[in-house]
Amino acid sequence: MTDTIEVDALTEAQASTELAHLAKAIAKANAAYHTDDAPEISDAAYDDLKRRNAAIEARFPQLKRADSPSDQVGAPVAEGFSKVTHAVAMLSLANAFDDDDVAEFDQRIRKYLGMDAKAALSYTAEPKIDGLSLSLRYENGELVQAATRGDGAVGENVTANARTIENVPQRIAGAPELLEVRGEVYMSHPDFEALNERQAEAGQKTFANPRNAAAGSLRQLDANITRARPLRFFAYAWGALSDPLADTQMGAIQRLEAFGFQTNPLTRLCDGTQDMIAHYRHIEQERATLGYDIDGVVYKVNDLALQSRLGFRSTTPRWAVAHKFPAELAWTRLDAIDIQVGRTGALSPVARLTPVTVGGVVVSNATLHNEDYIAGRDSKGGVIRDGKDIRVGDWVQVYRAGDVIPKIADTDVSKRPQDAVAFQFPHRCPECGSDAIREEGDAVRRCTGGLICPAQAVEKLKHFVGRSAFDIEGLGAKQVEMFYHDDQLPIRTPADIFSLKDRDARNLSKLANRDGWGETSARNLFNAIEERRKVPLGRVIFALGIRHVGEVAANDLARHYTTWPSFALAVDTAAPAAECQLQADAAEVAEREQAAQEGRRARIKPVRDAAWADLPADARAAWLDLTGIDGIGASVATALVTTFQQEAERQSIDALISGLDIQEAEARTTADSPVAGKTVVFTGTLEKMTRAEAKARAETLGAKVSGSVSAKTDLLVAGPGAGSKAKKAADLGVETIDEDGWLELIEAL
Ligand code: IVH
Repeated sequence: MTDTIEVDALTEAQASTELAHLAKAIAKANAAYHTDDAPEISDAAYDDLKRRNAAIEARFPQLKRADSPSDQVGAPVAEGFSKVTHAVAMLSLANAFDDDDVAEFDQRIRKYLGMDAKAALSYTAEPKIDGLSLSLRYENGELVQAATRGDGAVGENVTANARTIENVPQRIAGAPELLEVRGEVYMSHPDFEALNERQAEAGQKTFANPRNAAAGSLRQLDANITRARPLRFFAYAWGALSDPLADTQMGAIQRLEAFGFQTNPLTRLCDGTQDMIAHYRHIEQERATLGYDIDGVVYKVNDLALQSRLGFRSTTPRWAVAHKFPAELAWTRLDAIDIQVGRTGALSPVARLTPVTVGGVVVSNATLHNEDYIAGRDSKGGVIRDGKDIRVGDWVQVYRAGDVIPKIADTDVSKRPQDAVAFQFPHRCPECGSDAIREEGDAVRRCTGGLICPAQAVEKLKHFVGRSAFDIEGLGAKQVEMFYHDDQLPIRTPADIFSLKDRDARNLSKLANRDGWGETSARNLFNAIEERRKVPLGRVIFALGIRHVGEVAANDLARHYTTWPSFALAVDTAAPAAECQLQADAAEVAEREQAAQEGRRARIKPVRDAAWADLPADARAAWLDLTGIDGIGASVATALVTTFQQEAERQSIDALISGLDIQEAEARTTADSPVAGKTVVFTGTLEKMTRAEAKARAETLGAKVSGSVSAKTDLLVAGPGAGSKAKKAADLGVETIDEDGWLELIEAL
């Protein structure tokens, strides 16, 4: 029986057969349970079938059946929706806040494409709908799947619910064999008000705004509830396609319209930024009468060939931008300032406010950034708010822009209570009492308690189990908090997660016997943890939650070092260099002060060179290699070294690593790319593409792009005017080609 084969070991054919069996078995169990009220199998056995089905679907998303059991809403799947891996990631948009940002967007694109400022370049401009995005998959014209954006890579399967949306076609004619239509699900103002009235009458919860109402309605486990909610859909983009829709964005939108999708009537083709901004003003004027919420205008490069040349950054396309409407404002009382301690120890002041409605949402908390912000200074020491500080009791102006956390923009000192005193920012961590210090040049005060600080430890754990990190099903922020404070079965460090099952087995009181748990959920949790023992290197590095090391940096590091041992060795070897950098920084500050006192220019270089010269050669090399990785600067490198050098942190990391099966990192794309895994350096002038484009292209083909030539360089692409790098490459015997050679090499890829 295929049942006994690990999902990872299944062939595609076996998977397909098994999915068919599972669909039948689950349907039979469903019928017995729901229709006949006479279950034939135990809940646990049922759960196992569902889980296996989901695991196979996750590994072979292309095999997911139209009648997949994961789509059957209403079945007893308490965990919620099944997951859908998007064939093409669902990204978000970069923002522009004023006309200058729009001009910059246009300039960046021209620069990237090597286009003249005067060359014609047109964009589409359309309202940015304030709803939630949805991807609809059509195969041979049939709607087969609908998924929310989720984290962009994996969304929730909401097929049954999407089928209830009136203007989502179930079937379309004349479409490509495979077509994923993307757009926004939203609720109109009148529908929203009527829904809230009905909810209130029925004694049910009302929604803060149409966006929440739309999201809450689409993400209902019971599709019949969704059916009763008046949702609508605007199509504005697409995902996977078997054939292109058109040559232009506008043409593609017209095709979607011809297939029967609602597209936004305010979509226009604009000839450059002036036109775009004029249309923005027009939409802004119409905003109040549209009958649905919008929060800005989206501009997209019209020519699809240019879109594809421009490509994507990690989470946003280069060819589009969202020009947001100005933030919404309101005045209220600042009742208190609380200090929260984050994962990296940052003390963040939070304003507790007398609740106030800002743009339709009730706001009772807002961020105050850091102590300088409260005092009336920006992070560089400059004066803000005319130097007015913010005090408890003040009358403050709150604003929010889109989804971002509300902020305090201003304070009205004329209304300040007489007894209001300047806020004293704590110099000790309110959670663990350790010193909270500010480093040179850092606006943030940080708790020095490290892992002994419970707030930091818990936040680190939450980050560790987060979606882009270990993503352990059934172990979210709430459970982490619970286990952290548990005396019987504590989780205080990441390694504790992986020893949970063994510790539970040794304990007298079992997790399964606790309130809110039970055999199935305990077993599910242990299984979910086991499933994550095998983990890609990039995820591990990201999961450690080291300051400055985001997802992108973590993956860059993983691709560069490929294995944990070589990564750890590199960080350890580079340690003296990081130490030297820190000392040099301090020496530089001292020299600057001294020079300022003596009225002369500071001599920085000798200070740095002297410190550097004393370093062991391997430390210097490791440091240069680390900071030579594109996107990894001195601050990331220093943060890595510092973390690895801290005893408690290091012990925690080592304990974790020893329990994991870390997968070697692979180059980004197809193994048949001739540059996959190679380190490439570009130098001199490129004539056929800009440097940024060449770099992005090389990276999508799996190459590592470095800024400097070393013995590790595999290929130097040298344009005219190449200088010292070309010479160094020649000395090192590094293969050197010109731009045409490069284009030939990557041609047809
Ligand atoms: S285009 C690859 N067009 O805004 C980019 N997005 O902030 C595809 N949105 O996740 C998005 N109206 O949910 C696009 N006319 C519009 C939009 C729009 C609303 C949403 C979408 C996206 C978010 C990004």
